[in-house]
Amino acid sequence: MKIIMLGAPGAGKGTQAKKIAAKFSIPHISTGDIFRANIKNGTELGKKAKTYMDQGLLVPDELVVDLVVDRVNQDDCRDGYVLDGFPRTIPQAEALDKALSKLGQKVDFAIDVDVPDENIVRRMGGRRACVTCGATYHLEYAPTKKDGICDTCGGGLILRDDDKPETVEKRLGVYHEQTQPLIDYYTDTGILKTVDGTVDIEDVFRTIVEILGA
Ligand code: AP5
Ligand code: ZN
Repeated sequence: MKIIMLGAPGAGKGTQAKKIAAKFSIPHISTGDIFRANIKNGTELGKKAKTYMDQGLLVPDELVVDLVVDRVNQDDCRDGYVLDGFPRTIPQAEALDKALSKLGQKVDFAIDVDVPDENIVRRMGGRRACVTCGATYHLEYAPTKKDGICDTCGGGLILRDDDKPETVEKRLGVYHEQTQPLIDYYTDTGILKTVDGTVDIEDVFRTIVEILGA
């Protein structure tokens, strides 16, 4: 099963993608996580990506497309995967479709996690990420058992650099301009499914599992 997660920054794509990946035993491929790992490791890609990410802008398509196409061609992706944060522009979606059609494959579901802008800023302010393993929490909606300590690995928690309110506003603007057109793109190809992302994490997940027919 090949699944794409769509939605505004902070809509809950990553939260749901991790749960889908665990339930269906398929890889969770997050371009944001890949860039953050590269930044942490000081790679050339990380240095380039950081200049865009810190401003709330998209990383140029040419830095993203090959990376994802290579990743989905790896052996562990044979039974499917969940893409989180890609595609994010029409050219990225077209590049993915082209690469998959060469292999006689296609995306099965594009799931749009729908959350209005007014909810987003509040969510981002409360998000905390583990510096060690990247697990994501929320001070109010998904708290850790011990304050400031990751449940999974015991690492410390931080506010992501791009979760400052002014950068969140910028990311939302970029989302509406460059990523929202994908809603029409996947409506036209007939694979778009919209879920209400404002309800509890578990309720969102239940709806997604129903859509996936499991
Ligand atoms: P990326 O990491 O993909 O960021 P994003 O799309 O802005 O999405 P987020 O990770 O911020 O949010 P999310 O929807 O995953 O929400 P989450 O589950 O964490 O990308 C970062 C940057 O990298 C981009 O700005 C860009 O520069 C670059 N980039 C990445 N991919 C790219 C690409 N393809 N092309 C170009 N550039 C690219 O949830 C948010 C919070 O809310 C959490 O605290 C969570 O616990 C909480 N929460 C989740 N669900 C619920 C719920 N139902 N109720 C209450 N709280 C909830
Ligand atoms: Zn951790």
